[in-house]
Amino acid sequence: MASIIVRGCGPLQGTVSASGSKNAALPIIAACLLNDRPVHLHNVPALEDVRIMREVLSSLGARCSGPDEHGRMSIDCAAISRTDPPYELVNRMRASFVTLGPLLARFGHAEVPLPGGCQIGARPVGEHTAAMKALGAEITQEAGQIVARAERLQGAEVFLSIASVGATQNALMAAALAEGRSVIHNAAREPEVAEVCSFLAAMGVEIEGIGTSIITVHGQGGISRELEYSVIPDRIEAGTYLLAIAGSGGSGSVANIIPAHLEALTSKMREMGITVEEGRDSISVSGPPELLPTDIRTAAHPGFPTDLQPQFSVLLTIANGVSQVSETVFERRMGHFPELTRMGATVKTANGTAVIQGRPGCLSGVQVDAFDLRGAAAMVLAGLFAEGETVISGLDFIRRGYEHLPEKFASLGGSVRFSDEPAIGQSAQ
Ligand code: EPZ
Repeated sequence: MASIIVRGCGPLQGTVSASGSKNAALPIIAACLLNDRPVHLHNVPALEDVRIMREVLSSLGARCSGPDEHGRMSIDCAAISRTDPPYELVNRMRASFVTLGPLLARFGHAEVPLPGGCQIGARPVGEHTAAMKALGAEITQEAGQIVARAERLQGAEVFLSIASVGATQNALMAAALAEGRSVIHNAAREPEVAEVCSFLAAMGVEIEGIGTSIITVHGQGGISRELEYSVIPDRIEAGTYLLAIAGSGGSGSVANIIPAHLEALTSKMREMGITVEEGRDSISVSGPPELLPTDIRTAAHPGFPTDLQPQFSVLLTIANGVSQVSETVFERRMGHFPELTRMGATVKTANGTAVIQGRPGCLSGVQVDAFDLRGAAAMVLAGLFAEGETVISGLDFIRRGYEHLPEKFASLGGSVRFSDEPAIGQSAQ
């Protein structure tokens, strides 16, 4: 895998603008499958994951263009000819499993390959299929695929045993074309779920309880509405830059965000002695001379997001004192800790918990590996805070989730460079 080269820097200063949310754009693109008229999206980030989702829809017969450099993307699902996304694409990106609900709801049939586990955990899909069953679908597993059939889905009470983001999104999209009223209980409350509700509402679906754990959807006979829709900003990307600025001891802002989406992060940043000021659509931070230790425990929204745990952990390694990180969402999302140890951090991990003996200035640049998207972002932050140069193998991960990363860091005064050469001593994969 190609690498990211980061030079340790002084305090980062300036303003960056957040891109559109990857994790909202992906299910919204899938939700276009419900509509037989074109949808014109704005603020879609030009990322590898978005390109994969576009390929998934194109493989089913959708006509897609973009996203272009202005974040515009158009999707026309008038002539869908297949309901079986190919394994090669679903395997490359788990999020494509959210095509199950809309394909089943509109065409009465969907065959979606089981996506399998990944570096951060097992990631089962039982909640997705249970929700489809509750809406009246017949579900079987055949040759590694989930096969779902229903002449017409029926509105129902859907009880999720885990407040899964993807399962809630799949259930919402399926319920949008079910006959009658569906109530999703224990729905995930992440902003990216509320955003799918808002998009369905913009397509004419009546929804109550948006942003809460009980969502009521009044199913439609069909959706046939050409529309424009702008995707919310990426709270995880924004949080990554806020942590980079504050951890470097600098001061600056992230613009084009919804500050309320970042409250779990900003309250923990304040506990570390970081000054945080919220504007209407921006947050400014200023790093203290010395970061204070604190504890975090990841949880479903509005708890501390697992997608910011690796990046936050890096700041704890350079805080003055002992901190604890408990990862409760993805059992294997701890791969960055051994790499941080190689850079000079003192961390002990056991059973999903890391105890960090923070020490200001402890990190120095070496060659490290990243194992997933947020772990790669964490290593970039560690490289910026370290003495010397850090070479991170894991560029493909960053390309999946961070738009214009080198340019955005350059505008803050940081040096992050992409190299398509594999890191020395690393075999090509
Ligand atoms: C979404 O994944 C995000 N992905 C993830 O972001 C994010 O980390 C995660 O939500 C949690 O916030 C997208 O939106 C594309 P879940 P998702 O189903 O929907 C368990 C990133 O870095 N579970 O809410 O797959 C599961 O194993 C990515 O951008 C079941 O047990 O997450 C996990 O422990 C990575 N059975 C927990 O629920 C199920 O059927 C939460 O997973 C489904 C999930």
